[in-house]
Amino acid sequence: MKVTDVEMVMSAVDPKQYPTTGHPEIGFLGRSNVGKSSLTNVLMNRKDYAHTSGQPGKTQTLNFYEINHSMYFVDVPGYGYAKVSKTEREKWATMIETYLTQRKTLRGVINLIDGRHEPSDYDFQMRDWLDYYHIPVLYVATKVDKLAKSKIPHQQQMLRRELELDEDEPLVMFSAKTKIGQDQIEAWIEQQAH
Ligand code: GTP
Ligand code: MG
Repeated sequence: MKVTDVEMVMSAVDPKQYPTTGHPEIGFLGRSNVGKSSLTNVLMNRKDYAHTSGQPGKTQTLNFYEINHSMYFVDVPGYGYAKVSKTEREKWATMIETYLTQRKTLRGVINLIDGRHEPSDYDFQMRDWLDYYHIPVLYVATKVDKLAKSKIPHQQQMLRRELELDEDEPLVMFSAKTKIGQDQIEAWIEQQAH
């Protein structure tokens, strides 16, 4: 899947605002600051099209990017952003749950976790939750450029074990800096969205 055309079509908080063309769609999920916008930029071959930031909570709405006039990538706001009020967090949870359960064209979700650490409580919650709704998931461990190369396979095994992934549940080690893992992620997207 080579991306030749990208268009940011909608920033949505409500299903009424979702695009209605019926293109297959892939959602990008994960904790705030884990690297969702950075991954979508790598896949779209753009530098800062999806705005990235050292400040968690940069992405606050569902951002729909139309790819090659034939599918959507959806950059989903990160969970676990501490500095917002309880009411805002609840609003956020409703927005995500509505999206994941009602969006008929959603073909799969890329669930990002920080490749440097053990999975967080949020990662475990999200895993159980996606399982429950039977949404196809690709796990992507980010920022692996911060690990020694020799440690990457070991870290991957640890993450698979901790998250209790089955053999048919893929986990890709990825870095937005070195682009390691990009090919595997693109192949998975193609499989879900053809
Ligand atoms: P929110 O929009 O807040 O949910 O964050 P996000 O998940 O979109 O994260 P974003 O892509 O904005 O990245 C957060 C920070 O991590 C930025 O400073 C990025 O430059 C950095 N970052 C993202 N991916 C990588 C990576 O693979 N390697 C390294 N070293 N840094 C990364
Ligand atoms: Mg973002």
